[in-house]
Amino acid sequence: MPEFSLRELTEKRKFLFFGGKGGVGKTTMAASTAVWLAEKGYNTLIVATDPTVSLSVIYEQKISETQITKINMVKNLCGLNINPRTAAGYFQARLEGMVANFITLFGNEVISTPCAEEMAAFDQFVTFLNDKDYDHVVFDTAPTGHSLRELSMPFDWSGYMANQIKNKRELSAVMDGAVNDENILESLRVEKERYDNSVKALSDQSISAFQLVLLPEKLPIEETARAIVDLAQFNINVQTLIVNEVIPADVLKGNWFLERRRATQDAYLMEIETRFKGIPRKEVPLLETDAFGVNNLRKVASILYER
Ligand SMILES: Nc1ncnc2c1ncn2[C@@H]1O[C@H](COP(=O)(O)OP(=O)(O)O)[C@@H](O)[C@H]1O
Ligand SMILES: [Mg+2]
Repeated sequence: MPEFSLRELTEKRKFLFFGGKGGVGKTTMAASTAVWLAEKGYNTLIVATDPTVSLSVIYEQKISETQITKINMVKNLCGLNINPRTAAGYFQARLEGMVANFITLFGNEVISTPCAEEMAAFDQFVTFLNDKDYDHVVFDTAPTGHSLRELSMPFDWSGYMANQIKNKRELSAVMDGAVNDENILESLRVEKERYDNSVKALSDQSISAFQLVLLPEKLPIEETARAIVDLAQFNINVQTLIVNEVIPADVLKGNWFLERRRATQDAYLMEIETRFKGIPRKEVPLLETDAFGVNNLRKVASILYER
């Protein structure tokens, strides 16, 4: 395994993403990382964009969909559970303003496209990618395919907006300045800058780190391979693989069932080694219990960052 320090990588990146197949441990890794950073003294925010709401369960307190919530058991840590299905809530006012501007400029047809909902979902990301309040923002993202769709939004939209702004200029010129909407153009320019900043932050490896979580099993390996290729299309390199739920060798003790499971994992660990050569990896053992609650998160964090 290539030598590297996950601790250093994590402390030095502002935006930390955890992707991967459903059930492999994304929320666990994101939540542990957030606890570790916060308890090191960094002002930290964890944002969940997975509609299978689990942050509240894992931190054992209600975490709001509309307000950034202080997490009581951990100093310096706040959380927000975005529900991408409901454009209402946290972002509503901003979005309504933006949508109104779009409609004024380009007419209703722009907004009634099916991508309006996705724009809303991505806009929530964009807000955090422009954040100036926190030292670290940890994203607990939806299963791979869905989050990639969200991530691809600004890449399209930024160019789209640039075009619209240019066309509108030309249109204005034709109409001999009869339409004066410089304020609206200016506010769209501000939006474009927010999106451009996000694109920059996402693809800058010194600002953002993409980690994929997987199990030493066939399906998560295939999903990881696909995610690596998909992310590369957006110039995003996967910086770490977290191989979760590896059965510890010292529990086998001649138990045929555990030995068989571990032998299966060993074969897949070899496959991971050869297929994902060059991407640093961290193994996390299968714990003797599931991993909710702050104490368990601290245990996972110490495995990730203290050894
Ligand atoms: N290393 C581990 N050992 C034991 N249980 C784990 C481990 N990692 C995750 N879990 C448990 O597996 C389940 C799925 O993890 P979760 O983080 O919710 O996955 P995801 O967010 O990828 O869907 C949870 O019940 C969690 O507590
Ligand atoms: Mg999850």
